Formats: sequence, C-alpha cells, structure tokens
Amino acid sequence: MFGHVFFMNRAASVLLTVLIVLGTSASGAASEPDSLELFDTRIMPIFRSAEPSSCVQCHLSSVDLKNYILPSSDATFVSLRDQGLIDLNSPQDSRILNLIRMGDKDLDEAARLIHEKMRTAELEAFSTWIAACCQSPRMRALPSSTVLARPEVPDEVIRHARKSRVVDSFVRNVWSQRMRCFPCHAPHEIDESNPRQQAAVKTYQELTKRYDVRMLERLEIFRETPEETLAYLIESSKSTPEDRLPLIDLKDPANSLLIQKPMSKLPPKRDEGTFEEPSYRFPLTHMGGLKLHPHDQTYKSWVAWIQDYAKVTQGAYQSTEELPVDNWYPSQLVLRIKGAPAAWPVGGVVQLFVHERDDAEQRWHDDPVAFTQGTVTPRRMVNGALFLLGMDESRVERWGDTAELPRGRFLVKAFVDTKGKVEHDPTVILDVDDFYGEAEIPKARWREGFRHAEIVSGTELKKPQVATP
Ligand code: HEC
Ligand code: HEC
Repeated sequence: MFGHVFFMNRAASVLLTVLIVLGTSASGAASEPDSLELFDTRIMPIFRSAEPSSCVQCHLSSVDLKNYILPSSDATFVSLRDQGLIDLNSPQDSRILNLIRMGDKDLDEAARLIHEKMRTAELEAFSTWIAACCQSPRMRALPSSTVLARPEVPDEVIRHARKSRVVDSFVRNVWSQRMRCFPCHAPHEIDESNPRQQAAVKTYQELTKRYDVRMLERLEIFRETPEETLAYLIESSKSTPEDRLPLIDLKDPANSLLIQKPMSKLPPKRDEGTFEEPSYRFPLTHMGGLKLHPHDQTYKSWVAWIQDYAKVTQGAYQSTEELPVDNWYPSQLVLRIKGAPAAWPVGGVVQLFVHERDDAEQRWHDDPVAFTQGTVTPRRMVNGALFLLGMDESRVERWGDTAELPRGRFLVKAFVDTKGKVEHDPTVILDVDDFYGEAEIPKARWREGFRHAEIVSGTELKKPQVATP
C-alpha cells in the first residue's frame, strides 16, 4: 500500500487516500485506491519483468507492453488515455486491451497456446486496472501530459518486425530458390510419378544409401513447409559446434553455411579415388559441388534476407529510412545479356532492371517492374531469374498473384559494379553512378525457364541521349 503514496504530490491527497481506503475496504466498489493498488500489484510487475510480453507472439522486436507503462498509475493512465488507447465510456473496448487480445486471433495455434497464459494475465491486469481508473472522476479529469509512453520506433518499423512479415519475406527470398538445391536438400519436392524427375529420384536414392539417418536429416535443409524450414534454420544455428559455420550467421550473413557451402567445390580425392571428408569451416568443401555463384540473384536475396532477419531480431532498425525495400517477388522469368560489352570484366557484378512502357504518356515508367543480378560468365553472358518489384495490390490484381509479366515492350537498364559496392554490401542496389546503358526489348514474351530467356545483346546497350534542360 505504501508504494503508490510516493507518487502523490500533496500531503492532502495522501490523507484522502488513506481515508478512502478505510471507508471502502469492505464494500468492493471500484474506487481510487483500488486502481492504485491494482497498478502496484498487477501492472508494475509487468513493467519490471525481464520476460518479453505476449506481443512477442507476433512482434519479433520493436514493441512490448512495457513500452506503454510509466512508473505511476496516473501517468500511465493519462498516457494511454491521450493516445486513444483507453475508451473512457467502454473500458472493456479500450484499444490497449484489443492489442493484447490480438494473440487470440492468431491462426498459428501453437503460437496462440504458448503465449496464452501470459496474454490472459496481462489482459486481466490491464482490464481490471483500466476499469477501476475509468470509474474515478478524478482520474478521468486528470490534465493532459506531454509524457506519453509508447514504443521508441515508428509504426512502420513495428510492422516490419512482425513475424508474419519476416516469414513472408523468407518465402519470397529464400524458400522460392530451393529448387537450386533440388533434390539433395529439398526431398519433399521429389515427385516419383513424374517421368522428368527420374534422374532426381535416382540421385536422392544414392544419398539415402550413402548416409545415415542423422546425416539425411541434416541434408533436409528445405523442410516440408517454409515455416518448418525457417524454424529449423534458426534453431540449428543457435548452437553450432566449433567445427562448423552456423547454417545462418546473424553476425556475418554472407558467411552463413547455407550460402558458403554451395559456393564451395567438391573435396579433394584420396589416392583410392574416394572423396575426402567434406569440411564445414573455411576452407569449405561441398559434396554437392558448386551450386551457387557469388552475387547471383539467389545469393543476393539470401544474404539480404538473413541480414534483415538479424536486424529485426536485434531490434536494430530505429527509423523508417533504415528499413530495406522488401518487395521482391521471385519468378522463373529469365533475362540474359549475351555478348557482354568488352568493358565488363568476367566475374563483374551486373544488375539489370526492367521498365514497363507507359503507352498513354509515350515514355518508360521511372520505377522498374523487375530486377535481377548476375556476374559476367567466361562466355560473356549475364543470366538471371527476375525478381518482380513492388507487387502492390493493384499490380497483383492486374496480373494475378503469380509472378508474371505481361507481353509487350520493355526497357532493360544495365548497371555495372565497378567500385566493389556489392562486395562490400551484398544487398546494395546500384545507382546512377554505375549506369552502363539501356536497350529495348520490343516484343518480350516472358516465358519461364532459362531455355526461354529474353535476350538482349550487349552491343545494343546505349546511354540515352539526355535532353539538356
Ligand atoms: C496475433 C498477432 C499480433 C499480436 C499478438 C500483437 N500484434 Fe501488434 N500487430 C499485428 C499486426 C498484423 C500488425 C500490423 C497491422 C497493419 O499492418 O495494419 C500489428 C501492428 C502493431 C502496431 C503498429 C501500429 C499498427 O496498428 O499497425 C503496434 C503499435 C502494435 N502492433 C502493438 C502491439 C502490442 C503492444 C501488442 C501486445 C500487447 C501486439 N501488438 C500484439 C499483430 C499482432
Ligand atoms: C546433387 C546434390 C546436392 C545439391 C544440388 C546441393 N547439395 Fe548441398 N550437400 C550435398 C551433400 C551430399 C552434402 C553433405 C556433404 C557435405 O557436407 O558436403 C551437402 C551439404 C550441404 C550443407 C551442409 C548441411 C549440414 O547442415 O551439414 C549445406 C548448408 C548445403 N549442402 C547447402 C546447399 C545449398 C544451399 C544448395 C543449393 C544452392 C546445395 N547445397 C545443393 C549435396 C548437394
């Protein structure tokens, strides 16, 4: 009972409080001291707890119920009231209670159950305290304050750190590329009845003969669903033995085993012709051989996803400007530059952006609709499956929710990394400084697969005539 007295600033109100306590202690009617006591016994423990609140069910970081609590009942009430989080006339419908109730609506039943106890406790604590506050004419009439308690980051950052956004991004950026590791690491994609998959069936059978159950389980990097895959990657990376790189490395995303293994060669052969044991630390070797190329579109999207995930879980984003663009939609549409210009070194990183024609305005749209990244091959080609960009609702409506592009006239802009920007930050998008030239594809058909790539010849890439202002 003494805790709250400290926050009252006038001796008179202390006396008043004591008197009211004496007067109403047996009646059970909600009154001033009830709200104070409730605050001390129910809300302060939540404030002081080292445990994350139930919000963590959906928010990986950036928001916690504690963010809305100040160290006094009055101050907390005023702060919530003035932010529209308390409904004075219908306390049970207060927005802060609805935020706590969010967890009830989660479609993920397991998550719902894990956090149920915490959620119920928080809900009971806040609803009884709020109900008591709302019955107090004195509290209702408290003057506004400039001290408002809320999360430190803007709403956009809070939304970005949501689990479902992270999973959605994982599906687009990582899961979508799993067929590059087929069949060895994606056994659930094997369809034995498909005549075109007979080679894959055989490859996988050989693996099951060669390896024991534990090893086969480790080979199953891509599990049956994206959620299971994500959970496995995160869980197994938490405690990685000394002799292995973690599957995903939150401190150094590009050096994750997931990315470095498939960029490594087969182990050397012993004299009798068998392979030496593969290595899981630098220098790495991979029994699957080279399957990923540094700075191709898959490498880029994987590093970008791991980096974003790391920052989200560490609560590293503070402002909206720091948030990465996360609007890439994978596709099987391939763009190829053949006969790359002589100025492009083999191994050099090239980014290609596709722009749509605005027929009404007789010009190209400024914002690209797709992009890919690749490196110049020894045969002087650059190849990449496109990521479609900014698939907002209107675009999904126009083209359906599959990653497709309509037929027609498009412009390809090529950017070449001459300054090692991508090496420095694998997720970087090149800019004006790196612009090499552009070329039109007059009749793009955009069909799936490398065999049906849309091709632009390097000699067609030209810098446009810039009209002098
Ligand atoms: C079941 C999942 C779930 C739980 C649990 C949850 N939220 Fe959210 N929260 C969301 C979703 C979804 C959004 C994004 C809404 C949108 O984009 O319009 C969001 C957004 C927010 C925002 C940003 C503002 C806004 O309305 O978009 C705040 C602040 C917030 N939540 C606070 C909380 C607090 C505090 C808790 C815990 C008491 C909590 N949330 C628990 C799903 C949840
Ligand atoms: C043709 C089969 C094959 C393909 C395709 C293949 N790998 Fe592998 N991979 C293996 C084999 C076999 C091993 C086990 C031996 C070893 O560690 O090198 C392995 C091991 C790994 C490991 C270590 C797993 C662990 O936890 O021990 C990772 C990570 C990995 N591969 C990533 C990839 C990725 C990512 C791709 C696709 C971009 C890929 N591999 C493509 C055959 C393949």
